[in-house]
Amino acid sequence: MGNIIVLGAQWGDEGKGKVVDLFSEKFSIVARYQGGHNAGHTVFIGEKKFVLKLIPSGILRPGIQAVIGNGVVVDPTALLDEIETLERAGIDVRKQLAISNRAHVIFPFHRIVEKMSEGREDRVPIGTTSRGIGPCYEDKTGRRGIRIADLYEPEAFCALYSSLAEDKQLLAQTFDIQETIDYEKIRDQYLKLAERIRPMVCDTAQLLNDAMRAGKRVLFEGAQGSMLDVDHGTYPFVTSSSATAGGACTGAGVPPTAIHGVIGVSKAYTTRVGSGPFPTELDDETGERIRKAGNEYGAVTGRPRRCGWFDVPLLRYTAMINGFTSLVITKLDVLDEFDEVRVCTEYRNTKTMPATFRALEAVEPVYETLPGWKSETRGLTRHQDLPQRARDYLKFLSERTGVEIGCISTGPERDETILIEGSRLAEVL
Ligand code: GDP
Ligand code: IMO
Ligand code: MG
Repeated sequence: MGNIIVLGAQWGDEGKGKVVDLFSEKFSIVARYQGGHNAGHTVFIGEKKFVLKLIPSGILRPGIQAVIGNGVVVDPTALLDEIETLERAGIDVRKQLAISNRAHVIFPFHRIVEKMSEGREDRVPIGTTSRGIGPCYEDKTGRRGIRIADLYEPEAFCALYSSLAEDKQLLAQTFDIQETIDYEKIRDQYLKLAERIRPMVCDTAQLLNDAMRAGKRVLFEGAQGSMLDVDHGTYPFVTSSSATAGGACTGAGVPPTAIHGVIGVSKAYTTRVGSGPFPTELDDETGERIRKAGNEYGAVTGRPRRCGWFDVPLLRYTAMINGFTSLVITKLDVLDEFDEVRVCTEYRNTKTMPATFRALEAVEPVYETLPGWKSETRGLTRHQDLPQRARDYLKFLSERTGVEIGCISTGPERDETILIEGSRLAEVL
């Protein structure tokens, strides 16, 4: 019992949305702590499909308080779009959602800055989601960003906005970018958008700490994945925020002592969207088979995800950085048809995670091959019903990564899940 973080153990899209939605039943509050609408968390409830971007997946359960923490970057237009979509589906968003007054604001010119840096010939493009996420975080750490609270002090906001807009105009001139932006119109629009979200804006760190003191339980929902973390991921092929467990404390304003469990979500194999090193990538028919079986296409951008085998050194590394107390293994069913499954158990001659993407690109993965189970696991809910070879595969992953597997997902829906009785995860839930 207590507060937990649920976060991605790989490069994102591990199935966090499904897992958070499932676990949130036991919590009063679900809080996002980093990222923005670059995230796409898919949740199926019966026939209905939801893709949550900025708003925590917990919003889908009536009565749960959803929090957008200070570490998140907010595009108000995207936020209002998402609110309206959820409201049309009958969710009482305005009653359930709180938005941090300290969260930084994404403006349209952030997307232009992103285009500029992605388009430069002397730089490898990261393959970003083009949502202005990186440039907004740049302004945040550059101490010239604009926060939601600033929108309610119009005079100060206009001064901050003018100076930020001037920077971007200069940049556009220098790099001969032809985009026309009506800066004044955008400024006025943002002041209006701010009024529309005003009733939901508050000091969410205070809200969370007060709630925890009153005995309410909080689930912190990570976005992206540990290997996309700006410090610990495959830099520079990362996102611009702290996607690892530490980000929950800084991005929500809660102390590390308030966290009682860190749950890493990992697929039974590996995927990645965008550019960057990927040691176990399968650039062949097998990769294509996984992509098809797992429907591996981005929830936000629709881009095909790169696919490969499970990578133990990567998981051991993210387990170390995050201190995973348990793992949730998702999409086991995707491997049902394979004659054999392979697992990268080490990188030859390298005991630690290389610091540069060049060194990671050069590692030589060493594989062990396990027999496939060739039998349907989709929708199973009891561990004892899994085929022995699937159980052996999971045991192998747990032993090699050194982390217990507390839960297995056998399909996208809430009830297509096996929770392991007696696990640390079952205890903390
Ligand atoms: P997130 O960003 O980590 O929330 O993951 P995404 O929603 O981007 O991608 C995960 C995809 O896998 C979604 O389409 C989910 O509906 C789906 N999914 C989640 N768990 C399972 C599972 O156990 N089996 C299958 N087949 N699909 C799953
Ligand atoms: P969820 O929360 C997978 C990737 C992008 C790109 C890099 C930087 O759904 O798991 P950004 O727009 O953040 O500057 O892009 O990070 N990326 C994701 N990949 N899942 C995500 O989120 C991602 N969010 C960003 O593809 O390679
Ligand atoms: Mg996703």
